[in-house]
Amino acid sequence: MNRDNPLVLGIETSCDETGIGIVRGSRLLSNTIASSMDEHARYGGVVPEVAARAHLEELVPMIRAATEDAGIRLEDVDAIAVTYGPGLSGALMVGVGAAKALAIALGKPIYAVNHLVGHVGADVLQTDADPGTEPLEYPTIALLVSGGHTSLLLVRDLISDVELLGETIDDAAGEAFDKVARILGLPYPGGPQIDRVALGGDPAYIRFPRGLSHHKDMEHHRYDFSFSGLKTSVARWVEQTRDAGETVPLADVAASFREAAIDILLTKAVAACTDLGVPRLLLGGGVIANARLRELAVERTDAAGIALRIPPLSLCTDNGAMIAALGAQLIMAGHEPSTLDFGADSTLPASVIQG
Ligand code: KG4
Ligand code: ZN
Repeated sequence: MNRDNPLVLGIETSCDETGIGIVRGSRLLSNTIASSMDEHARYGGVVPEVAARAHLEELVPMIRAATEDAGIRLEDVDAIAVTYGPGLSGALMVGVGAAKALAIALGKPIYAVNHLVGHVGADVLQTDADPGTEPLEYPTIALLVSGGHTSLLLVRDLISDVELLGETIDDAAGEAFDKVARILGLPYPGGPQIDRVALGGDPAYIRFPRGLSHHKDMEHHRYDFSFSGLKTSVARWVEQTRDAGETVPLADVAASFREAAIDILLTKAVAACTDLGVPRLLLGGGVIANARLRELAVERTDAAGIALRIPPLSLCTDNGAMIAALGAQLIMAGHEPSTLDFGADSTLPASVIQG
């Protein structure tokens, strides 16, 4: 195996994206993705069984498309990397099964890796559009926000030392956007819809609650998040307004909800940086597409003297390239491959980087 600049194929199937990535060392060669999002739209959220079936259908065509895109042959890869958790069990199992089959058929080593740490790994990738970024420095705080997870990590080292500082105790941030969009009669996925409707709205129109921000929460939930109270509070406000026969001011409600959600995410992320003396914050996950989050993240980190890193959006949402990238980092650091006895682990802790 080429350990200096390995050619790695990464497989990501933890949620509704079938992602195949191909990297050579830290260089991105292909980031090929099929999403089953449209199939979930009428349910207002990801349906695990539907996602798993879609992975099964998409994996082979996506692997073909990725190798073509990268201009390589499958036989040329040095190793296979695959997400084995956390995520939806059935969805993960499809990717894990495919990765093992490929590794056996090709006679290549396999690296089972953590999805959350993969989001951080996305940052090491160099693309044609962005060839010369400074390497990620450690330690760094990472805020990962998507439809499936909301986690705050302390990353002392990408491949050997990741600590979970906090996570959501109920809904993920993206899930809250999706649910509130539904309450407001907007289609799935809700994040982009809320962004669209919030344009011109007053973010201070209603002060919605910031979950787990009270003094009493600070001891046990300092870096944890909660979004279900926020969602309920929006639902109640909308219901009361309608019951009173008044029109719901959509733009103001969307802007006020978005402000509450983004405010608490960034308040806790910046607090972690400040408390722990880590002047670096890395963002990842699909919610990073949020216009207000990006704006406020720049404002808050500037004010606190924190260096902010946001990988390109195509590498922030779930993808196989970040998984391949993490696999390549493990190989380059001399880590041995995983043995084939690993399975899908839907609740894999963030601190377990490789299986
Ligand atoms: O990382 P991602 O693509 O994967 C999954 O979680 O599967 O994230 C999707 C989530 C959805 O919940 C979606 O509503 C949210 O990211 N999202 C956004 C925005 N764009 C996507 N949330 C807030 N604002 C956005 N502009
Ligand atoms: Zn993710």
